[in-house]
Amino acid sequence: METVGILGGTGPAGRGVAIRLASAGYDVVLGSRDAQRAGDVATTLAVRGAGSVSGGSNEDAAQCDLVVVATPWDSAVATVAALRAPLFGKTVVSMVNALAREGRELVPMYPARGSMAAQIAFALPDSTIVGAFHHLPAAQMEDLDSGLDADVVIFSDSDPARKHVAELVDQMPGLRAIIAGSMSLASPIEAFTAVCISINIRHKAHSYVKLAGLGH
Ligand SMILES: NC(=O)c1ccc[n+]([C@@H]2O[C@H](COP(=O)([O-])OP(=O)(O)OC[C@H]3O[C@@H](n4cnc5c(N)ncnc54)[C@H](OP(=O)(O)O)[C@@H]3O)[C@@H](O)[C@H]2O)c1
Repeated sequence: METVGILGGTGPAGRGVAIRLASAGYDVVLGSRDAQRAGDVATTLAVRGAGSVSGGSNEDAAQCDLVVVATPWDSAVATVAALRAPLFGKTVVSMVNALAREGRELVPMYPARGSMAAQIAFALPDSTIVGAFHHLPAAQMEDLDSGLDADVVIFSDSDPARKHVAELVDQMPGLRAIIAGSMSLASPIEAFTAVCISINIRHKAHSYVKLAGLGH
């Protein structure tokens, strides 16, 4: 089974993805700017299943077969650019959303290339970029008993890469993979996260994305 590294994996988003990957049997490395901190965080995670979560540096995480970017948007490009060599030839999954808080709402920001996935693709010309996990609520992801039953909208210009990530997502408990299409959809998919979070703030809820009518 392939290994999965998560850059910025010590945050709520990375931890939630890590726990559900480990439940699906994957061995996951939480990457951090501080390997000690990542090791400490990894020991706090209530992992179930055949997989594991360990901590390391972001460089350690980048050695894994597949790598997820889970840093804040304004540090994602610098983080991946420094890891271009270990990420060479790999599939890199971006879950990064560029959002700003305005009062009770989150609003999307649009990076120069239209999306964070495109920014990351530009910084990593030797890697294949896939977008996934943008709309997931981290707290429910981290709690395996939360009853989460969410869809993960996936995009990439590489059909094999997006299918590969979809197969991985479908093994994670509580998640269903939905391939949306190409990188052209990155901007609206990332921006929609602002809608999801704003709805939850307004309605004091923990809703998530579940698409009806797909027939599977
Ligand atoms: N939270 C959610 O529900 C959720 C859901 C879907 C997608 N996302 C996206 O996932 C990403 C991470 O979200 P999060 O809530 O987990 O964020 P976060 O807690 O603010 O940051 C995640 C980790 O990134 C590292 N980091 C922070 N500042 C950094 C910097 N300047 N340079 C390099 N690394 C830095 C930190 O790890 P170390 O200090 O250990 O290095 C931190 O634990 C965001 O882009 C967000 O839009 C979040």
